Amino acid sequence: MAMSRSSTALAQPHLADVTLTRDDMAFIAKLVYEQAGIVIREHKEAMTRGRLARRVKALGLNSVAEYCAFLKTPQAAGEIPELINAVTTNHTSFFRERHHFDHLRKDVLPRLVQERSARRGRIRIWCSAASSGEEPYSIAAVSRDVLGSRSDVDFKILATDIDTDILMKAEAAIYSADQFDRLPPDVKPLLKLEAHSGRGEARISEDLRRMIAFKRLNLIERWPMSGPFDIIFCRNVFIYFDTQTKASILDRFVTLLAPGGFLYLGHSESLPQPHPQLRLIGRTIYERLP
Ligand SMILES: C[S@@+](CC[C@H](N)C(=O)[O-])C[C@H]1O[C@@H](n2cnc3c(N)ncnc32)[C@H](O)[C@@H]1O
Repeated sequence: MAMSRSSTALAQPHLADVTLTRDDMAFIAKLVYEQAGIVIREHKEAMTRGRLARRVKALGLNSVAEYCAFLKTPQAAGEIPELINAVTTNHTSFFRERHHFDHLRKDVLPRLVQERSARRGRIRIWCSAASSGEEPYSIAAVSRDVLGSRSDVDFKILATDIDTDILMKAEAAIYSADQFDRLPPDVKPLLKLEAHSGRGEARISEDLRRMIAFKRLNLIERWPMSGPFDIIFCRNVFIYFDTQTKASILDRFVTLLAPGGFLYLGHSESLPQPHPQLRLIGRTIYERLP
């Protein structure tokens, strides 16, 4: 049966114009830099266009140009966090850059646990670009392995990220089973997976979930915590920042790190310049000097 003209029109999907002009690209790059410190380079134009298109669609707008015009209005204040969520790159995985977790498990935590348990002390770890949770759950997994069932240490992990959508995923702790299937057999059991009702999914055990507090935190804004932290993970986010932003964040990390504490950066990252209070002791592992 032939369709009438009107029903054909109704069946048309809403096709937005995703053209991104140079001016709009420059406007978005400036806004994202001011709000999140993220530098969007010119060659990332296609990726940026795709990410903005998601917001254009969500808001029912007709074009990226309309979206940029909207962002310039006072009514757009509530849209800024959504824009930031859309432009962040959240790529991560369990036990990514594995040797950091081996270092933590073998060289750092046993000594720290022994020292702190003797005086019923605290151990604090900050995972500062936690993304969808794979990194903080890997930290919790090796920590539980070292801590066992002891209750004489007050142990907590703070996991933060700027992206509120990804933090919800992190808190839910539900992942596709094939993410776990790819893990080396010696670390997979440490995540103590629970069966989950979703098909092909598994959930991180409640025991590990309870070790972590997830919070939104923008690394370029004021931080509410006073520290000290024994360990700070800041991996694969410095790559999005310029030298000035990295240097300022690094100074603040040093202030919050306990003497003898450790800072882990991503494998492709380095300090913007040598820091007088940080000593490189392994691949992208820095120790805070007294
Ligand atoms: C590529 S992921 C890295 C995840 C994890 N650290 C890892 O190495 O697997 C980068 C994360 O940094 C976050 N991010 C980007 N800018 C940020 C900022 N200004 N403050 C806090 N987090 C930020 C992003 O939302 C994203 O989840």
